[in-house]
Amino acid sequence: VNKGHGVKGLAELGLKTLPQQYIQPPQERFDMSDDEEGNKDTIPVIDMSNWDDPKIADAICDAARKWGFFQIVNHGVPVHVLEDVKNATHQFYELPAEEKHKYSKERSVTNSVRFGTSFSPEAENALEWKDYLSLFFVENVDEAASLWPLVCRNQALAYVKSSEPVVKKLLAILMKGLNVNEIDESKESMLMGSKRINLNYYPKCPNPELTVGVGRHSDVSTLTILLQDDIGGLYVRNTETMKWVHVPPVNGSLVINVGDALQIMSNGNYKSVEHRVIANGSSNRISVPIFVNPRPTDVIGPLLEVLESGEKQLYKNVIYKDYVMHFFSKGHDGKATVEFAK
Ligand code: SIN
Ligand code: FE2
Repeated sequence: VNKGHGVKGLAELGLKTLPQQYIQPPQERFDMSDDEEGNKDTIPVIDMSNWDDPKIADAICDAARKWGFFQIVNHGVPVHVLEDVKNATHQFYELPAEEKHKYSKERSVTNSVRFGTSFSPEAENALEWKDYLSLFFVENVDEAASLWPLVCRNQALAYVKSSEPVVKKLLAILMKGLNVNEIDESKESMLMGSKRINLNYYPKCPNPELTVGVGRHSDVSTLTILLQDDIGGLYVRNTETMKWVHVPPVNGSLVINVGDALQIMSNGNYKSVEHRVIANGSSNRISVPIFVNPRPTDVIGPLLEVLESGEKQLYKNVIYKDYVMHFFSKGHDGKATVEFAK
C-alpha cells in the first residue's frame, strides 16, 4: 500500500490517467454545466468589524437559516496567522513520505493525530482525490499539540487560538437568534467542547472530470471555520434552487458553515448544507478547516429554548460520538448522516 505517499505521491508519479479506484460513479462527478457562466449566485460575505451591531447579527442568523454558509472578513484573526498556517500546510506535505507515514493509521502514536488519504477508504466505493492531516483535541489544545508534527505545530496552534474569539462571537450571535441568551457550561460543552483541525491537500489531478476532491456531504460539527487558498473549487448547495454555487476565494476571509450538530440543536432552524470540492486539473489546492464540535460524550438534541416556541421536535437526542461514528462508517453520502438523529 501507499506508505505515506498519499494521493500527492500518486500525482507526482506523473500519471496520465486516473487510477480506477478514484473513478466516481457518473452521478457523483461534477457536471461543469451546473456552473455555467452567469450563475453568479453565491453565499453572503459579512464584514464583522462591527460585530456587535444588531444588523450584523441579523445577517449572520439569516445566512445560517437560508444558506448554512457565509464568509466573514475583518474577523480579527491576523492575516499573518492565516498565511503561516497555509505555508505550514505546504511544508507538511513536502515532507518525505516516511515522515508523513509516522502519522498514518498504522503508525500514529495517538488516534488524535492522523495522516490519511481519501475520506474513509475502507467504507468508500470510490476514493476521493485528497490527502489530509487531522488533529483532534478535547479542551486542552496545548497538551494535544505536543504530538503534532513539528513543521506545522505552532502555526496550527496559533490559528486555533486566534480563531477562538470569533468562534465565540459567532456562537453567541447564533444562540441569541434562537432565544438562548446565556451560554452556561453545559451549552458551552455542546457547542465547542472539542475541535478538529484538518490540513487538506488536493493535488493536481490527471482526470478531474472523473473524480472529486471531496464528495457531497454535510459536516458533523457545530460550526466549521474554513481557510482556503486562492484556487477555489468548493461548491455549496443552494437549498432553495438545489443548484451548486461556488464559494469564491476572498482574500483574508474565512468561510463559516453550520454543521449537523447545530442543525440538530436548532431543531432545523439553522441548516447544515451539502457541499463538495471538485478535483482540479491544473493546480494543487489546500484548505484548513477547524471543526468546532460538541464534546464526544455529550448528548445533543433540539434545545429547550427553541422547542418552547411550540415547534415540532424534528430530532431525537443522540450521543455525539455515536453520531460521528456513524458518519465515518460510510462513504460521503450527502445529507444522509442526519437521519441517524430522526
Ligand atoms: C470539506 O468540506 O471537507 C473540505 C472543504 C474544502 O476543502 O474547501
Ligand atoms: Fe465539509
